[in-house]
Amino acid sequence: MFQRVKQDIQAVKERDPAAVTTWSVLLNYPGLHAVWWHRQHHWLWKHGRKGLARWWSQVARFCTGIEIHPGATIGERFFIDHGMGVVVGETTVIGNDVTLYQGVTLGGTGKERGKRHPTLEDCVVVGVGAAVLGDITIGRGTRVGGGAVVVNDVPPNCTVVGIPGRVVVREGRKIDAVDLHHEDLPDPVVEMFRCMQRRIDRLEARLASDEAAAIEYGEPPVPAAPAAVSEVGRPDEDAAETGEGESCAY
Ligand SMILES: CC(C)(COP(=O)(O)OP(=O)(O)OC[C@H]1O[C@@H](n2cnc3c(N)ncnc32)[C@H](O)[C@@H]1OP(=O)(O)O)[C@@H](O)C(=O)NCCC(=O)NCCS
Repeated sequence: MFQRVKQDIQAVKERDPAAVTTWSVLLNYPGLHAVWWHRQHHWLWKHGRKGLARWWSQVARFCTGIEIHPGATIGERFFIDHGMGVVVGETTVIGNDVTLYQGVTLGGTGKERGKRHPTLEDCVVVGVGAAVLGDITIGRGTRVGGGAVVVNDVPPNCTVVGIPGRVVVREGRKIDAVDLHHEDLPDPVVEMFRCMQRRIDRLEARLASDEAAAIEYGEPPVPAAPAAVSEVGRPDEDAAETGEGESCAY
């Protein structure tokens, strides 16, 4: 148990530059107190003393300003900085080394039953005032920006901001609203030639099969028509002729 307490204090020191001494952490961090209270509430909850657990968790809420439902499952080195206004719902699952700032809600959307609160994998950070709602999973190492409202799963190692939350950074790479990766643009001329080649192949195959049928039934071969130059950009006429729907128009 002492080892766990030591770990909790160390986690605060690592994540808050203002936490200098062990005494200051012990005295001034309601987020830490709330976690210690929660461990007792959770034990009672799991051992069938749900009424007592709920009541006692309300006492903790009164003292710390942090409301953690006794049913919530919380991993090691969980840290709530400042704390006031944090709400953690009953079926929330929190991994190891997770950090929440003040005003965070890990709640339900109000529509579900059963598992209706989020799962936060290891090392997730949820910024001030953010809401993570519903039975969704926030992937390992993801950061939720202050004020975001997240209602869908978020993959690991992302930054998600805004309302509704959208991923702006993934695996260290910025995700632009407008795709600016010009090096990936398709070459329209090459595409056009490929498209024309496919249509010529199909027409030749059809011609060959028509000729073979004509020979079989003893009909004279149809004289080759003068080559018509098909105007690029008028694919509908060719398509009508060949019965194929592919268009080469750009
Ligand atoms: C999201 C956050 C973690 C920053 O992540 P990051 O990976 O460094 O991302 P960046 O700063 O490069 O921002 C990426 C984009 O998201 C935007 N952004 C960042 N934080 C945002 C937020 N909270 N809400 C909306 N947009 C935000 C940036 O403006 C930037 O947009 P741009 O690409 O159009 O310029 C950080 O801004 C944040 O909100 N941290 C919460 C910290 C906190 O709660 N502190 C409380 C202390 S008491």
